[in-house]
Amino acid sequence: MIKLIDVQKEYENGTKALKGVNMTIEDGDFVFLVGPSGSGKSTIIKLITGEVKPSDGRVMVNGYNMGDINHKQIPAMRRTLGVVFQDFRLIQKKTIYDNLTFAMRTVGSRPSTIRRRITYVLNLVGLGDKANQFPDQISGGEQQRVAIARALVNNPSVIIADEPTGNLDPRRSLEIMKLLEEINRLGTTVLVVTHEKDLVNRFDKRVVAIENGRIISDGAGGYYNNER
Ligand SMILES: Nc1ncnc2c1ncn2[C@@H]1O[C@H](COP(=O)(O)OP(=O)(O)OP(=O)(O)O)[C@@H](O)[C@H]1O
Ligand SMILES: [Mg+2]
Repeated sequence: MIKLIDVQKEYENGTKALKGVNMTIEDGDFVFLVGPSGSGKSTIIKLITGEVKPSDGRVMVNGYNMGDINHKQIPAMRRTLGVVFQDFRLIQKKTIYDNLTFAMRTVGSRPSTIRRRITYVLNLVGLGDKANQFPDQISGGEQQRVAIARALVNNPSVIIADEPTGNLDPRRSLEIMKLLEEINRLGTTVLVVTHEKDLVNRFDKRVVAIENGRIISDGAGGYYNNER
């Protein structure tokens, strides 16, 4: 479970990015986080991953209190999260398979586990036949699916994706969202940041809308539908 309680975030330069945010994401939820540029979406993601600390309030992630987590606990906490970056961050010199192997070795998985798991996640994202390609030999949408596979490979309880479809055309974007929906159906909690309102409206999911550091609505399909 992820829980933000009265969270404030003021950056070192004095920018107040979050002004009292309350949000709970239960295990198994699928949540879209939407809002204008600069509203605080990535700040929420970074609080959850531990990249930044709250100035006030509490951030709980899968049982860890992010405000006073000790640096030795960070690797164990991070293993509960799979993060998908907008720019993929794949290692260009490694094949798709080796990109995933690398992610699993860093947490100390055994070779037999690695082989089994990689085969499973690559098939799940529809790239079973691309394992031996290098990132620059596959399309942008396929690279995005590799990034999702990599986020999944260590079997996290939560997948967090900040603009996972930012670089993709509408059809590919829809495919990625459907993939995340399928991953959610298989039991992983999913939090997706996106600007793409047409895409959000195609899914009947919870939408948390943030504006200027405050949550302005939270509900099934709420925010974008209110605009009409
Ligand atoms: N490291 C930082 N130092 C100072 N201010 C920051 C920092 N990171 C973000 N901000 C500011 O905090 C506010 C929220 O930024 P954030 O990155 O969370 O927005 P966002 O909703 O993700 O926007 P976008 O849709 O453009 O990615 C903005 O005013 C931004 O300029
Ligand atoms: Mg952002």
